[in-house]
Amino acid sequence: MPTLAQVQAEIARRGAEKNREREARDAERELAEELLRTDWAKHARPEQRLPPGDWLTWLILAGRGMGKTKTGAESIRELVCGPTPLAPGRYARVALIAETAADARDVIVEGPSGILGIHPRVYRPMYEPSKRRLTWPNGAIATVFNATEPDQLRGPQFDLAWGDELAKWEYVQEVYDQLQFGLRLRGPSGDRPRQIFTTTPRPIPIVRKLVAASDTIVTRGNTLDNAANLAPSFLEKIVERYAGTRLGRQELNAEILDDVVGALWTRETIDKARWKIEVPDFARVVVAVDPSGARSVDDEGADSIGIVVAARGVDGRAYVKADMTCKLSPAGWGARAVQAYIDNDADCVVAERNYGGAMVEHVIKTAAQHRGVTVAFREVVASRGKVVRAEPIAQLYEQGRVSHIGELSALEDQMCQFTNDGYVGDGSPDRADALVWALSSLMDMRPVVTVSPEVLARSRQPAVAYGSSRFGRP
Ligand SMILES: Nc1ncnc2c1ncn2[C@@H]1O[C@H](COP(=O)(O)OP(=O)(O)O)[C@@H](O)[C@H]1O
Ligand SMILES: [Mg+2]
Repeated sequence: MPTLAQVQAEIARRGAEKNREREARDAERELAEELLRTDWAKHARPEQRLPPGDWLTWLILAGRGMGKTKTGAESIRELVCGPTPLAPGRYARVALIAETAADARDVIVEGPSGILGIHPRVYRPMYEPSKRRLTWPNGAIATVFNATEPDQLRGPQFDLAWGDELAKWEYVQEVYDQLQFGLRLRGPSGDRPRQIFTTTPRPIPIVRKLVAASDTIVTRGNTLDNAANLAPSFLEKIVERYAGTRLGRQELNAEILDDVVGALWTRETIDKARWKIEVPDFARVVVAVDPSGARSVDDEGADSIGIVVAARGVDGRAYVKADMTCKLSPAGWGARAVQAYIDNDADCVVAERNYGGAMVEHVIKTAAQHRGVTVAFREVVASRGKVVRAEPIAQLYEQGRVSHIGELSALEDQMCQFTNDGYVGDGSPDRADALVWALSSLMDMRPVVTVSPEVLARSRQPAVAYGSSRFGRP
């Protein structure tokens, strides 16, 4: 006769066994469900599938929310994973490149459409953020880069690369060039090196070049193609914001917009004058601030503030050094402008008096005090129209007297949508406005005001008065 204790032990053993069996069954079912849920072949729309053929570049130009990031991540999975988790795939040394370090982490790797999220657990790579590295169970490795640090790409070699939002990269040409040097390995079974770029299109030279290349497959997609997978609130907001606008054609329909007829600036003029060699010494540097974006219709919380840094070289030419436009609280943009002032060893911060200048002065003053620095402030007085102000500046470009240092894509987009009839882009041209202030002040081009000659003669005052003040700690 078994003792009571023995009976109880036997019951417990059988119970545990049942539990184990149930757990195993649950796990199996979960895995099957997960594999089904993450089966890209089943979910991808045709334009999201890896194209056949011997391409070097697959360029996906598509609107926001079309599924570009997901397509990039899924394609990497398809090319790196084998038929089982430990089996080798076609590629094993991967470069993943995002616009910024934050995007690399939050979008490409950890985001909902990113690498980690789209892999079923058994195939999922291990992520080591400190090494910017992903390691798959089959030994394949991806390194994560961002386009603000082109030097990161110097050295390592790859057989496969994916770049997300290429058209927005800060150092797009440098990063692209570095990648081309590194993209020289064949895959484990001899496949040629390949690169995939997923981006909202912009008419920058590299995008045009890739579109024209014979070994590029170009795929286009519209935001609305992915409507079924997008939150209705997102769709509503984005369609309302962009539908029918020029920018909407680019951001939703993925058209590459070419120059606007009658624009004050053309891509060609700006490109031709782009500065690629060592810059001369600067005689004067200004940080121009334009708060006009604060009044744009699509404001959400923080204000959009145009911040542009420009310099006048000892050669008498002007150099546009940086576009630091941002959408931040006053404390945020104030600190950013003061930082730009410090970093660029600037002579003054410039802002328009009539249109928020007092506010700018106050914000800059506060930020300067916070940093314990002195910032010189200069007011410029506006003429009546944006176009009247912009025209003489555009002429300086025509004369080849202004160069951009590197690509300032977002700013250049705005400039090329400035026409004689006004700004035809979306929202407010905060960047271009700040540029006009910076260059007007630097080149001592007084903004035009309409004052009759008699009044002028009587007052014997210059048509435009510049105010000037200094604040912060002495
Ligand atoms: N074929 C698809 N099936 C299911 N969901 C998809 C598909 N393509 C994209 N999605 C989802 O749509 C949303 C937007 O995709 P994402 O790749 O982030 O867009 P984009 O990078 O173009 O802005 C994400 O939630 C993504 O998971
Ligand atoms: Mg994306």
